[in-house]
Parts: sequence; C-alpha cells; structure tokens
Amino acid sequence: MSKSKTSYVCQSCGAVHRLWAGKCDACGEWNSLQAEVAESGPPKGLGGGKKGKALDLVGLKMSDDKPVKRLVTGLDEFDRVTGGGLVPGCAILLGGDPGIGKSTLLLQSVCALAKKGLRCVYISGEEAVDQVRLRAARLGMADAPVALASATNVREIAATIEENPIDVLVIDSIQTMYVDTVESAPGTVTQVRTAAQELIRLTKKTGTATFFVGHVTKDGQIAGPRVLEHMVDTVLYFEGDRGHQFRILRTVKNRFGATDEIGVFEMGELGLTEVSNPSALFLSQRQPDVTGSAVFAGMEGTRPLLVEVQALVAPAPYGAPRRSVIGWDQNRLSMILAVLESRCGLMFSGSEVYLNMAGGIRISEPAADLAVAAALISALQGRPVPSEYVFFGEVGLSGEVRAVSQPDQRLKEAAKLGFTGGCVAERLSSQKKQAKIEGLTVHEIRHLDDLASLLREGGSTPRLRA
Ligand code: TYD
Ligand code: MG
Repeated sequence: MSKSKTSYVCQSCGAVHRLWAGKCDACGEWNSLQAEVAESGPPKGLGGGKKGKALDLVGLKMSDDKPVKRLVTGLDEFDRVTGGGLVPGCAILLGGDPGIGKSTLLLQSVCALAKKGLRCVYISGEEAVDQVRLRAARLGMADAPVALASATNVREIAATIEENPIDVLVIDSIQTMYVDTVESAPGTVTQVRTAAQELIRLTKKTGTATFFVGHVTKDGQIAGPRVLEHMVDTVLYFEGDRGHQFRILRTVKNRFGATDEIGVFEMGELGLTEVSNPSALFLSQRQPDVTGSAVFAGMEGTRPLLVEVQALVAPAPYGAPRRSVIGWDQNRLSMILAVLESRCGLMFSGSEVYLNMAGGIRISEPAADLAVAAALISALQGRPVPSEYVFFGEVGLSGEVRAVSQPDQRLKEAAKLGFTGGCVAERLSSQKKQAKIEGLTVHEIRHLDDLASLLREGGSTPRLRA
C-alpha cells in the first residue's frame, strides 16, 4: 500500500525538498517553498476512481449557419499582419519598446473596429481615462464608440468581461495588471503569467479577441519574460527607430496566418498613418551616383520591399579597424568581408567598414548578401553602383551566389519602381517558369568575381562567367 507524505516544492524553480526551509537551495529564492502532498510508490493513473464526463466530440467541417468571421479594421497594414483580421477569441501579444507607439496603434485600430459596430473595450493600466480621451481626440477619433476604463485589478476586469458581451478587448499593458490572490508585485513573472492566464481563459470562453500590450526590456525580451509568447495565439512586435518616423509591425508567431508579415506605418502629428508603398518611402532620399550605395530587393513575408544598403570604407588610423553595422547582422558582414578578401582578392583588412540599412529598417534575410557585397565593392573602389539596378542573392563561403525565394516578386517590385536592371542569384530549376519582365535587364550572378567585374564595367556590357 502506498503512503502519502508531504514534500516542499519551490514555486520558482520546481525543486523538491523533504523539509521546509526559508530559502530554496536550488535557486536561492526566499520564501518560495510550498507544501504539496506527494504519493510514494508508483504513479496510479486514474485508477478506479470516479468516472469523468465524456467530451462532446465535434466534426472538423465548419457549420454553414455559424461561420467564423474575421474582424477587420479596414487598416490594410494592420489586417495583413494579423493574417486577414482578428479571429474571435484570439489572444494577441503586442510587444515593443516603451514609447514606440503601441497604445496609439491599438487605440486607432480599436476605434476603427468600433466604428464598424463591434463592441470594443480599452482598458488602460497606465493612463487615466481622460488621458486616453485626449489622445483619441488628437487622433480625430473622439466620436468612436469605444468603452474606456482605467483599471489594474484582473478580478474587476474579469467581472466586466463576464457581464458584458465584448468583441474586442485591449489590455494596456499586461505588466500593470495584478491578481489579488498572488502576493508578488505587478510586472513580476508570476503576476504577469497568472493575470494573462486568467484573462485568456475567460476571453476564449466568451469569444472576445484580446490584445495584450507588453513592454520589451532592454535585452529585447518582453518583461515577465517570454512567458506570454507561448500562451497567446499571435505575437506581434512594433519596432522602429525613435529617430525615424517609420514604424514596422511584424508578426513573430501566428496561429491564424503567416508569420514574417510586416505592416509599415509613419508616426506623425496625428498619430500613425499607413504606408502602402514602403519601397518608395525607403528609397525616397537616395542620392544617385554615390559610391557605396546599392538597392536590395527584399521580401518581408509576402510583400516585396526595396531598401538602400549603404557602405563606407575609411582608412583605419590605428589598431584593429572598426566594423560597425546598423540594421543588419554583424557576423554576416564579417563573413562577406572575409569572402571578398580571400575569394576575390579585395582587401578590407586595413580599413574601417561601416554598413547601414537606410531608413531605420532591420533586415534579417540572407538574400541581402549580394547587395551588401555590391555596396562594399563600390565603396572600396570608389566607383558608384549603377543606380538603376537592384541586387539580391545569398553568398556562400566559396564566394558562390545562391538562389533565394520568390525572385519574380522582387523583380516585379523593382520594375514597378522604375529600376531597369537586376544583378541576381541564379534561379533554382523549380523557379524557371516566369516570363521575362518588361523593361528589366537581369544578370544572373554565379560568383562574387562576376559581380566585381560587372561593377568594374559599370554594368553596361556585362561579361559573365559561362
Ligand atoms: P505611445 O503609443 O504612448 O507608446 P507606447 O504605448 O508604445 O509606450 O506613443 C508615444 C509616442 O508617440 C510619443 O513619443 C509621442 C508619439 N506620438 C506622436 O508623435 N503623435 C501622436 O499623434 C501620438 C498619439 C503620439
Ligand atoms: Mg502605452
């Protein structure tokens, strides 16, 4: 016969102790041990205890009389990122640096939804009701029928959800919410996790689409560390450089749509405005015929995006030369420099190298390698890259240029913006189908040597390696 006995489990790290102590030996946390009754002997499973109620199993096919409808704001940049509108009952985490514009974005979206007749509630734990009203007035949305409250107690918010039918709920921010049965302070892991769990459980039951605002800490993670990311259906990040007016909303996880989608906004006097043609915006301040500038034709999710890559090579006065990168991966820059040195004989080792993705955007695609290499070669040799060309392709360690996804969409976007040429990676055999794009001369580059010789000739009469 098994005997039950009490053991003490640390609520912070899960370590089990035989005796109670004020401090957990394993993680050093104070006052985290709680008594739990543990059964000795082999686990018994459900045994012969009371029988549970069987589940109601349902078919996979959606019922025709009650189709699931997505809630669209009508702001295209926002709707694309959520996968074509909000799904009832979904939980969405919106992360971003403090002051980047999360509250502004959500207030604008919720006002748009409310104007379409949806019941929207905006709960702010950071601002008083009048402050939110002032902001709405500034955004020109003062007449939207959004219900406001300033609250931080989850018990009160839960009662509100249960008593009122709500379509869309905003919790701004989850770090200010607290559950009164949990002792730790708001913003701690336990509070954030418990508050979110409680609210998600309720909103799933009532079919309320819920946004949680989460501030990101310095190291790039949402405070109340990442505990929320796996609990919610969708994770969005709102990013951008404070010095620039562009803001990018990015999908990191989405159970109801594609990830890596972006929406581009511009922060102005009257709040955020959509940027429906971001490529034109990112290239708007480009100077023609300067050295060290090349245009990268990138893809962000399903949307093509053209960005200017800028490089500067300067003599290093002393010591180890500096390598500085804004908007791209430092390790990838080191790799491209090493490949250019050892495979193409272009020497950067005595020079400082600076690389910048213009406009404050962050690029993570390896397809930018070729554009970076073009900008670097141009900066080193003091010869401008033909300004009507776009570049894309991934560079391998032997200097070979590898195929990237969706070449046609990239080229079409380039043609649309008036570019007349492209230096691009060779296609995979599965990508051969597309017919020639009108007005665009495409050079397929196999090796960085080909790129170097093409740039030396000014791009006019390319002689490519057979
Ligand atoms: P906010 O939405 O409060 O940021 P978060 O909720 O992410 O902390 O945005 C605050 C910033 O946005 C603030 O620096 C001012 C700027 N802003 C504008 O430039 N124009 C506007 O119309 C609004 C409402 C804010
Ligand atoms: Mg805010």
